[in-house]
Amino acid sequence: MRALSLLLALYSLAEAVSVGQRQKVVQSFNVRRTKSSDTTPLQVGNGNFAFGADVTGLQTFKPYAIMSTWGWHNFSLPTTPGQTSVEDYTGLQIWTHGRLVPYEVPNPAQSEISNWLRENPHRLNLAKVGFSFDRPNVTEDDLQHKAQELDLWSGKLSSSFVYDGCPVQVETWADPDSDTIALSVKSKLLRRGLGLSFDFPYPDNQKFNAPFVGHFNLTSKHSTSLERLSANSASIKHKLDETVYYTYVSWKGHGNIDGPAEGTHHYTFTTTQPTIQLTVTFSPNPSPQPQSPTTYTRITAASRTWWQAFWAAGAFIDLTSVRNDPRARSLQQRIILSQYLTAVNSASSAPPQESGLVNNGWHGKFHLEMALWHTLPFARWGRPALLRRSQPSTYRALLPSSRARAARQGYAGARWGKMTDPQTGRSAPGDINALLIWQQPHAMYFAETEWRWACDATGDGGGGGGRDREAVLARWDEVVSASADFMASYAFWNASTGVYDLGPPLYPVSENTSPNATRNPTFELAYWRFGLDVAVKWRERMGREAPGEWVRVRDGLAPLPVVDGTYAVYEGIEGMWTSNATTNDHPAMAGIYGLLPPPASGKPLDLEVLRKTAAKIKELWALDYSYGWDFAMLAMNSLRLGDPEQAVEYLLHPIYQFDDAGYPVGGSRVPTPYFPNSASLLIATAMMAGGWDGSEGKTGHWPKSWEKDVQVDGFTPAL
Ligand SMILES: *[C@@H]1O[C@H](CO)[C@@H](O)[C@H](O)[C@H]1NC(C)=O
Ligand SMILES: *[C@@H]1O[C@H](CO)[C@@H](O)[C@H](O)[C@H]1NC(C)=O
Ligand SMILES: *[C@@H]1O[C@H](CO)[C@@H](O)[C@H](O)[C@H]1NC(C)=O
Ligand SMILES: *[C@@H]1O[C@H](CO)[C@@H](O)[C@H](O)[C@H]1NC(C)=O
Ligand SMILES: *[C@@H]1O[C@H](CO)[C@@H](O)[C@H](O)[C@H]1NC(C)=O
Ligand SMILES: *[C@@H]1O[C@H](CO)[C@@H](O)[C@H](O)[C@H]1NC(C)=O
Repeated sequence: MRALSLLLALYSLAEAVSVGQRQKVVQSFNVRRTKSSDTTPLQVGNGNFAFGADVTGLQTFKPYAIMSTWGWHNFSLPTTPGQTSVEDYTGLQIWTHGRLVPYEVPNPAQSEISNWLRENPHRLNLAKVGFSFDRPNVTEDDLQHKAQELDLWSGKLSSSFVYDGCPVQVETWADPDSDTIALSVKSKLLRRGLGLSFDFPYPDNQKFNAPFVGHFNLTSKHSTSLERLSANSASIKHKLDETVYYTYVSWKGHGNIDGPAEGTHHYTFTTTQPTIQLTVTFSPNPSPQPQSPTTYTRITAASRTWWQAFWAAGAFIDLTSVRNDPRARSLQQRIILSQYLTAVNSASSAPPQESGLVNNGWHGKFHLEMALWHTLPFARWGRPALLRRSQPSTYRALLPSSRARAARQGYAGARWGKMTDPQTGRSAPGDINALLIWQQPHAMYFAETEWRWACDATGDGGGGGGRDREAVLARWDEVVSASADFMASYAFWNASTGVYDLGPPLYPVSENTSPNATRNPTFELAYWRFGLDVAVKWRERMGREAPGEWVRVRDGLAPLPVVDGTYAVYEGIEGMWTSNATTNDHPAMAGIYGLLPPPASGKPLDLEVLRKTAAKIKELWALDYSYGWDFAMLAMNSLRLGDPEQAVEYLLHPIYQFDDAGYPVGGSRVPTPYFPNSASLLIATAMMAGGWDGSEGKTGHWPKSWEKDVQVDGFTPAL
């Protein structure tokens, strides 16, 4: 039955949008600038590597970053006795249901090593590649007729300007398959002193590096050296303490690299040709040349092919036939630019940091509770391969340290950390980091999404066949089981109430409650049930019995807390709708019927309570202080409650901002860009386009006046 309804849903939703039409829509949002932005670059990149350009197509006046998945650095360890190694760090014990449990929180008696662990390793800006002019101190104002266009359909950034009466044309591309940019420069000025410059920064220990990363004036702290490899290539070795990587430059025809200039890490490339094509590859690998030849021509062809396939093969929403409502165009622009930017910044082999490869937030580390927002859109938009770049390999890599964390704390299974990095897999010390729990069931959300994808892709929706499905079951089994084991053993049997409690101590999604007072937060309870339901189902699909503990805990979870006929942030919260201290930060109660599907086990959600909760949030929540993904979560809640008009209002809320190039504005609490905003917008719009389980066949996911003109293609229902 389900197989049939899924198929019907797929057919009824898929009114194919032709490749030609997709191209027209995508290119209508090509980004054009006539001056550098003070806050965001224009980027080319591939998910694991990105290059941020100013108006010159390079990094001439604004040192936007070149960042990667692999480029990280450590400062030296503290020298204070008792704090000189990672192993010295003990964290702190906190009373947890009558016993002392060690948590990775900062230890005031070990502040140096605690800080070191938070600040290290940090992600590096690999270099700055700009123009060097015939005289020093040229500024952007000295250039005329500045114009640039980022072509989303091919990944090409074209820039042009006039300097000293002479035109300069630049093309900037990124290789989809390596950490390489390809550059072409055309100008007679190349014969009269216009060159390219390379410079290398040294990092600092600031939590946020925005808009720029690293410092170019700390030259004595690091070293660089040039090696000429051939008449057409050279490498620059950059050594910062223990970190070493190489910048390989190769070019077609005549050229020369010189440097470094005295007391700097500044190198200059010059040529006598009026046109030059270069490739610049960054690598930790000391072998003289990357394996495959990285010619300009090959990279431009590869970039075109990759981006065209990206746009042609994924799901698509075409709102261009919706007339008389300017909101449709705004939403379409956000949808297109968010897809480009998340592919460039978040489709990495480890979960991305919140600012992607643009600049650094939280030292360049990623947050496991954000991983769902960041990477789910790839699967929801028909590009599961991009999700598979980081999942489940990230969980697998973190499994040993997460099992060890759970064991240290006296729990079974794997307790996933929070703020971490792909190099060490450590969870950085922090009060919130150690006490947040909503990252635990994400593995189940990913697994279930992949499962569904495999079912749909095999076209039989759950019947026979399905080597894909067996592969998905096997791929996620250990991670799902270890997550469920932890979740079951973390829940505390409260003998006086006869239910399993979550916390205290814990931080819920809204990180502003008192952890010692926080028991049974609504979202976490719902998510625990969802996770355990998936884990049990996973076992059934594999023909194995689920551990009794998973079922017992799921069926005994505390009821969702209700206050004044609404779902509360947590059980026993004081002044739920009367104190402004409780009505700000993430309104996660809306997530239980938005991001999450209704429960598959236990008591059904009370629709009246859900409606009243949504109304109270709209009336009283301090949305001006919200993060962008709150609006996407509220929009999904509105959709399930049958109010697409309100969903669109949330998605275009004035606080949920994107700049001219589609970068999500961070707002008052985090720097720009803040990519969970882009990703969550894509999750919410995929839900408008594909519906959700149980909504098949129904219309009503778009504002009424849009409905007959919306074209969607390739979506499956959300969970
Ligand atoms: C930083 O130090 C950690 C050990 O604490 C090590 O695992 C990691 O590889 C180091 N990273 C760099 C870039 O040196
Ligand atoms: C929570 O309780 C612990 C004692 O177990 C105490 O050290 C800590 O300060 C309390 N935290 C807050 C935020 O009240
Ligand atoms: C360039 O600017 C620097 C710093 O503002 C100044 O010290 C230097 O004299 C200037 N050079 C020229 C040639 O104007
Ligand atoms: C070094 O550069 C940073 C910007 O990266 C700047 O804030 C600082 O003032 C500079 N220091 C000196 C001594 O010029
Ligand atoms: C059991 O739950 C009640 C109500 O939430 C709470 O007051 C009590 O402290 C809990 N008992 C334990 C041992 O945590
Ligand atoms: C809450 O209200 C108090 C008193 O009116 C005010 O000072 C405070 O800024 C408000 N806080 C928030 C988060 O709105």
